[in-house]
Amino acid sequence: MTSQEQLLLDVAVAAAKEGGEVLMTYFRQGVSIRCKNGESADLVSEADVNAEQAVIRVIHATFPAHAILGEESATDTDPNSPALWVIDPLDGTTNFLHDVPHFAVSIGYFEYGVPICGVVWNPAREDMYTAVKGQGAQYNGRSIHVNSTDRLDQSLIGTGFHVIRDGKLGATLGAIEELFGLNIHCIRRFGSAALDLCHVASGLYGAYFEYQLSAWDFAAGMLIVQEAGGVVTTARGTPLGLQKSSILASNTLLHPVMVQIAGKRHDDF
Ligand code: IPD
Ligand code: CA
Ligand code: CA
Repeated sequence: MTSQEQLLLDVAVAAAKEGGEVLMTYFRQGVSIRCKNGESADLVSEADVNAEQAVIRVIHATFPAHAILGEESATDTDPNSPALWVIDPLDGTTNFLHDVPHFAVSIGYFEYGVPICGVVWNPAREDMYTAVKGQGAQYNGRSIHVNSTDRLDQSLIGTGFHVIRDGKLGATLGAIEELFGLNIHCIRRFGSAALDLCHVASGLYGAYFEYQLSAWDFAAGMLIVQEAGGVVTTARGTPLGLQKSSILASNTLLHPVMVQIAGKRHDDF
């Protein structure tokens, strides 16, 4: 790894940990317990905003001129900026709100739209997933790799449901039903897209699909999957950019069959 790549990774890790500290301050107090009369959404957004500010502070301390595309401070940042950090300060908001310790800070670094470095940190479990372009992917410092099955009937498949329950919900349920018909081991919906991608990278899931995500949901995880030997595209199998999109990540071997199953329902909404 070059010294610049090492610096980018160190900054991404430090920023994710700083954001995670902010989240844990709220999480330890019990977000749902502290909330009355439906105020929980406000408290979560306070946690999101403060965590994102902490992440940006750490990044800008080393790279003051770098551009930011953050969920909480999303602007019209050019996705093709020469140096761009894409941040989801809290991925897995519903889990966070319900005291489920499965959420993450997700940080991806891009140069001219090309992913260079990605970090996903679950502060409640102290799980750190990292990747640097061309250098492989790691989980808590150990190399990880996608699994090697080409059989759906030996696979666990991850998915997720977009917050707006329109036609995407029916399409997702249709794809799940077809997958069960093909005798998959089971479906998982753990509630954090960033961590779902890491589960493909570490071989837990053979594949993961979802019909609508934003760039900050997958910015870090896509590189972690690619560096672990997997493939990430839209559900149709086309290249994924830094805009709202469906997603399909797999161990590569399962990609063609998953494109068929997830891709054909893409027009249902
Ligand atoms: C959500 C999570 C969830 C996915 C949703 C995302 P958020 O992000 O990644 O797993 O199913 O589509 O919006 O709102 O918790 O940052
Ligand atoms: Ca979020
Ligand atoms: Ca998210």
